[in-house]
Amino acid sequence: MGSPQLRRLLLLLSVAVAFVSATDHIVGGHLGWNPNISYTLWANNQTFYVNDLISFRYQKNMYNVFEVNKTGYDNCTMDGLAGNWSSGKDFITLDQAKTYYFICGNGFCFSGMKVSVTVHPLNASSAAPLKASTHGAAGSAAPGLRPWPSSNAAALLVAAAASIVIGSGVGI
Ligand SMILES: *[C@@H]1O[C@H](CO)[C@@H](O)[C@H](O)[C@H]1NC(C)=O
Ligand SMILES: *[C@@H]1O[C@H](CO)[C@@H](O)[C@H](O)[C@H]1NC(C)=O
Ligand SMILES: *[C@@H]1O[C@H](CO)[C@@H](O)[C@H](O)[C@H]1NC(C)=O
Ligand SMILES: *[C@@H]1O[C@H](CO)[C@@H](O)[C@H](O)[C@H]1NC(C)=O
Ligand SMILES: *[C@@H]1O[C@H](CO)[C@@H](O)[C@H](O)[C@H]1NC(C)=O
Ligand SMILES: *[C@@H]1O[C@H](CO)[C@@H](O)[C@H](O)[C@H]1NC(C)=O
Repeated sequence: MGSPQLRRLLLLLSVAVAFVSATDHIVGGHLGWNPNISYTLWANNQTFYVNDLISFRYQKNMYNVFEVNKTGYDNCTMDGLAGNWSSGKDFITLDQAKTYYFICGNGFCFSGMKVSVTVHPLNASSAAPLKASTHGAAGSAAPGLRPWPSSNAAALLVAAAASIVIGSGVGI
């Protein structure tokens, strides 16, 4: 139980768990990133954790996405500009535990195209590696969880961990 190989296995499994729990939050759900939608209601119905993704889907010749600070969000200005996206399908990693503010340019912020999301820290103590990874491997249908890229990454990591242990002659 105390062998270095097993410790490495547990470490890899907990990394896999971290991948499994990352969620892609599609802004507005099937309504996407468009005017006259309450993104406050949308955001209040989600829980964001560090390393989750937020993704914006929209007509790229009409809309775009700017990350600003609270002043920019409140007033629909570019105050505190921290990033801009315009591909029409933008994935942004929420890698800090803080409140993020996103607005649309071209005046559409005034039509409600603004969203703020508060990202919670990951709770390492809640991720008991073996229990959580069993759940993760079977749990890709959990509501709100999206498989990409989690399941593949997790499967690869679990396979890698298993081969390290088996290859070193310890066995499971
Ligand atoms: C949004 O609402 C405003 C005011 O009600 C309206 O003028 C505008 O056409 C609406 N835009 C869209 C895309 O529905
Ligand atoms: C909140 O989320 C649940 C499940 O994810 C969904 O069924 C419900 O429609 C959402 N409500 C709103 C207001 O988006
Ligand atoms: C922008 O919003 C903030 C609140 O976040 C407010 O205090 C400030 O007066 C506003 N600035 C402008 C230029 O409207
Ligand atoms: C946002 O950034 C502007 C500078 O671009 C700054 O003047 C303002 O104080 C910032 N607002 C907040 C809430 O940090
Ligand atoms: C958008 O971001 C790029 C870097 O990603 C930067 O070079 C460019 O100046 C930004 N544009 C605006 C309008 O902020
Ligand atoms: C983290 O987990 C501990 C125990 O599992 C719990 O008491 C605490 O409230 C959790 N914190 C957060 C931010 O979820």
